[in-house]
Amino acid sequence: MRPSLPTTGEQPARSSRELGDKTNLVILVSGHGSNLQAILEACADGHLRAQVTAVIANKRGAYGLERARLAEIPAIYYPKPIDQERRAYDAALADLVASYHPTWVVLAGWMRVLSSAFLDHFPNRVVNLHPALPGTFPGVNAIQRAFEAYQRREIQHTGVMVHLVPDEGVDAGPVLAQEVVPIYPGDTLESLEARVHQVEHQLLVNTLMSIC
Ligand code: GRF
Repeated sequence: MRPSLPTTGEQPARSSRELGDKTNLVILVSGHGSNLQAILEACADGHLRAQVTAVIANKRGAYGLERARLAEIPAIYYPKPIDQERRAYDAALADLVASYHPTWVVLAGWMRVLSSAFLDHFPNRVVNLHPALPGTFPGVNAIQRAFEAYQRREIQHTGVMVHLVPDEGVDAGPVLAQEVVPIYPGDTLESLEARVHQVEHQLLVNTLMSIC
């Protein structure tokens, strides 16, 4: 059953004014949540003038939920039932997210493509993080595919981007920020992953600082 919830599609300025000085962030995760952690720490130390009003995960056991609980933030496990239509799930998810009054919805390792049934509720207010440069390696295992492309001498570097999510295009949309990540001859996949994640944490927080 879809709960009775506040109107969706509010303008960012209005919702943040109504709910205090700070910008509200609802974070969607599917796994480890290290980017969520970077956001939580930036909020806690005051670098990021925002508050995380809820963390929602579609995967059972996503450690991001535990990080939210430790920070005493609502942590909601909200999987898609097998027998539920994709758009019905996305609409119900939008209602759930809207109930936490997001100024921005942040996809921080959310491994599910959202349809317009979700996105139309939050025009220009959904932000995604992708561990590669714009137009490169969309979808899963982006770091591994970049590493393999480097080994085939097809690329010299990879990167990270933060972008708006206007539609169902995978890891595509207006770019808010991007940063090149070097790949070195001695790199292993693990060392490259560690470097990419470090850049992700900084780039995501810096981007949110600039838009909040
Ligand atoms: C990040 O590399 C993100 O770009 C990708 O999934 C990973 C999530 O990492 N979409 P974490 O859950 O934030 O640790």
